[in-house]
Amino acid sequence: MDKDKVIVFDTTLRDGEQAAGGSLNVQEKLEIARQLQKLGVDVIEAGFPVTSPGDFEAVTLIAKEIRSSIICVLTHAVLDAIDQSWKAVKGAENPRIHIVLSSSDIHLFYQLRKNRDEIVKMSCDSVARAKKYCSDVEFSAMDASRTEPEFIHRLLKAVIDAGATTVNIPDTVGYAMPDQFGTLIKGVFKNVPNIDRAVVSVHCHDDLGLAVANSLQALKLGARQVEGTINGIGERAGNASLEEIIMALKTRQDFFHLNTGIDTTQIYKTSRLVSELTGFAVQPNKAIVGANAFRHSSGLHIDGMIKMSKTFEIMDPKSVGVPSSSLVLGKTSGRHAFVERLAELGYSLSDEGLSRAFAAFKELADKKKDVTDRDIESLVAEDKRLTAETYRLDRIQVTCGDRGIPTAAITLIAPDSKIKSDAAIGTGPVDATCKAIDKIIKIPGIKLTEFTVKSVTEGIDAIGEVLIRVESNGITYTGRGADTDIIVASAKAYVNALNRVVAARKTKAKK
Ligand code: KIV
Ligand code: ZN
Repeated sequence: MDKDKVIVFDTTLRDGEQAAGGSLNVQEKLEIARQLQKLGVDVIEAGFPVTSPGDFEAVTLIAKEIRSSIICVLTHAVLDAIDQSWKAVKGAENPRIHIVLSSSDIHLFYQLRKNRDEIVKMSCDSVARAKKYCSDVEFSAMDASRTEPEFIHRLLKAVIDAGATTVNIPDTVGYAMPDQFGTLIKGVFKNVPNIDRAVVSVHCHDDLGLAVANSLQALKLGARQVEGTINGIGERAGNASLEEIIMALKTRQDFFHLNTGIDTTQIYKTSRLVSELTGFAVQPNKAIVGANAFRHSSGLHIDGMIKMSKTFEIMDPKSVGVPSSSLVLGKTSGRHAFVERLAELGYSLSDEGLSRAFAAFKELADKKKDVTDRDIESLVAEDKRLTAETYRLDRIQVTCGDRGIPTAAITLIAPDSKIKSDAAIGTGPVDATCKAIDKIIKIPGIKLTEFTVKSVTEGIDAIGEVLIRVESNGITYTGRGADTDIIVASAKAYVNALNRVVAARKTKAKK
C-alpha cells in the first residue's frame, strides 16, 4: 500500500445519523451512499444494523449497490451481534466488520462493570468471530484518549494478534488536546510490537472544537485512516469534518506530504445533499462548505482579489465544486439554458423529471426576477420529494391577519388518488394549516417539535424553505417543503413529515 495514502472513512450514515434529530430513512441513506461513492471515500460506515431494522435494511441495500467503496458495519463486541451484523453486510463487494468496545477505566467501572482482562478477552473473541466471516476487521477502543496508554498498547497488540486489520483510536468525548493526542499516537507506534500488521485509524469528536486538529495531528504522526462525517455532523457536538481534513491535506500538501483518493470537486454537492436530507443547516462561516467560505466582503480584500485571487484565497472554490458562475436565469431563459445549468450543477434528470423541473422553473421565473443556482437546487429537491409523497398537497387557502381568526382550508390527494379536504382554525396560519392536515391524515399522538423557515437566496421574492420535525412514539421525523409562499412551503413540509411517519408505520407493520 502507498504509505502516503490516507484512507478516508466516512461515518455520516452511522455516527452522523446519531446526531439528535438527524434520522434518515432507507432511501435517503442510499442516496447519500451513492454520493459518497462519487466523492471517492474509501470506506462507508453504512450503519449499526443490530440497533434498528431500518439500519439493517439500509446496510443491506447499500452493500448490494455500492461496489467501489468498502462497506462497513458497526457492532458491539457480542458474538450474536457480530453474526447479525454480518448478515446485513455480506452482500458487499468489499465488506468490513467494525467492532467497538470501551477501554477507559471510567467506562469499564461505571458502564460495563468489567475488568481489563475481561475486556481483552471479549475484544479478541469478537475479532476472531468476525474474522470467520470477513478478512477486513476493524477494532475500536472506545474512549481511548482517556485510557491509560499501557492498557491501549496491550489491547491493540491482542486484537491485532486475533486478526484485526485496522485499529481505531477514538477521542470519543472530544477531550484530547492535539499535543496529547499526538503523544498517544506516537506511543502506539512505539509500544505495540505488531502495529505494522494493522492500519492505525483515528476518530475524533468535536466537543472542544478540536476534532479536525486532533485528526490532522494523528495523520502527521503516522495514522493512515481518518474517520469523520460530512459537515461534521454527529453525536453531541459532532465528528471531525471530513471536507476540512481532506482540503487541509490537499491545500497543505507541502506540510503533510499525504494524499487521498477523493474527488474534491464533489465536496460541495455532498455537503448540500447531507444538509438537505438531515435538515441540519450548514453555518455560513463553516470552512470549505459554508455560504461565506469563498465570499469576500471588505473593500481591501476585494481589491486584492481583483488583482490576484491568491492574495486572499488559499483554495480555488472550483476545487471543492462550488458552482463557479453567478449566472442567473430568468423568465426569458429557454429549456436549453436550463438543461445546461442543471448539468453544470451536476444533475442528470430523466426526461420526465426534466420536464417537471422545467415547468417548475418557468413558474418560479414568473414570480421571481432572477433564478439562481440555489433556487434550481431547491426546485430539484422539491420535485424529488413530491414524486415520492404518499399524500400530496393539492390546494391550500389561508386567511389570517391581526383581527380575524386564522383559518386554513386544505385539499390533499390521498394514496388512492381520492381528493380529501378539511378546514381548521388555529393560533396562526401555520397552526391552522397543520391542524387542517391533521384532520385529513389522522395520526394520533403527533407532536411538532421544530419549525424553521429560511430563504434560499436574498430578496423579498426568494423561495422559502421550511423544515418541520415531528415526534411520533419517541421517534423524530423530518419534513421539508419549498415555495415562494412560506405558508404553502409549511404545508408541504408538514405533509412530507407525516408521510414519513406513515411510511415508517407501514414498514413496521410488515415486519
Ligand atoms: O466515538 C466513538 O468512540 C465511536 C466508536 C464507535 C468508534 O463512535
Ligand atoms: Zn464517534
